[in-house]
Amino acid sequence: MKKVGIIGVGEYLPKKVLTNADLEKMVDTSDEWITTRTGIKERHLAAKDEAASDLAIKAGQSALEDAKLKGEDLDLIIIATISPDMQTPATACIVQNALGAKKAICFDISAACAGFVYALTVAQQFIARGSCKNALVIGTEILSSITDWKDRNTCVLFGDGAGAAILSEVKSGGIIASYLGGNGSIYDILMVPAGGSKMPVSQETLDKRLHFLTMRGNELFKIAVKAMHDAACVVLERAGLKAEDVDLVIPHQANVRIIMAVAKKLGFTEDKIYLNIEKCGNMSSASTATALCEAVKEGKIKKGDIVLLDAFGAGLVWGACVIKW
Ligand code: ACO
Repeated sequence: MKKVGIIGVGEYLPKKVLTNADLEKMVDTSDEWITTRTGIKERHLAAKDEAASDLAIKAGQSALEDAKLKGEDLDLIIIATISPDMQTPATACIVQNALGAKKAICFDISAACAGFVYALTVAQQFIARGSCKNALVIGTEILSSITDWKDRNTCVLFGDGAGAAILSEVKSGGIIASYLGGNGSIYDILMVPAGGSKMPVSQETLDKRLHFLTMRGNELFKIAVKAMHDAACVVLERAGLKAEDVDLVIPHQANVRIIMAVAKKLGFTEDKIYLNIEKCGNMSSASTATALCEAVKEGKIKKGDIVLLDAFGAGLVWGACVIKW
């Protein structure tokens, strides 16, 4: 099996910024409530003419430049998203065309906030077994398109963006261990009820606002802490490492209180946790992807560092991986 590592990263955040003060004018909320309960101050929102693929293409181009590769060098494109351009075709096909990645296999993965970790792990298998050389993995979301802007329980949480990584064979280090998991028994804790084959679009589903994300946030909070803690423990054990060996943790950015509760249980100090939730909110699959990109660009990840990615989301699904940079 070949060693597989990340050789380039990129991100794109839409220009428009929605602050907590803006939200105060839209629903019955306050900057104080949002900040203390979630750690979020602002989030980026896509323009009306921007689709998930547009964000992904920009993040992908940036990652290709970082890796000094061209679209034609790609053998595989995996897009992690729960807000694809359309039900079919896969958003990966639209990205493939825009990047001129003519020989790339392309498909999407729906694993919500764990999507980027799921996609990295799948891409790793293709390269490790020698069936692909270079893969582009992107987490891209326009959650604003499935957010109910009249529901204060959810609309303060989400944002739009895309983060990308290029995976290729590396001589040393790379992805040392991964762990993916799921539990569909409580799938309805976080979902978009209508718009699929179970409940196709109708006037009734539109009237009942069933095309938006619904969430039992309070229940999810406790489950998220346990799932992210357990995923980190399993993947560290698989990597033969301890928490103190980790240089930087890139957690899914759902809620700063969830992240810090997980960090405390694992024994990580705050300086080992990378956060971009304050300026981006929860961007589902794009959260870990953009946080990883930003940490690299800010010089917070150096050659030889041990990086832990740890994510959890709707499904329920979770995933973690340990990367030696
Ligand atoms: N502004 C003001 N008050 C609010 C708001 C708001 N935006 N939203 C809810 N409230 C009120 C509630 O109505 C409730 O009022 P009540 O006590 O009078 O009934 C009170 O605030 C407390 O509500 P809780 O739901 O208990 O608040 P909590 O501290 O749990 O925070 C939150 C809510 C932020 C959603 C939290 O539960 C959370 O982060 N949950 C996990 C989210 C998560 O992990 N999602 C998974 C990933 S997302 C994905 O996969 C796409």
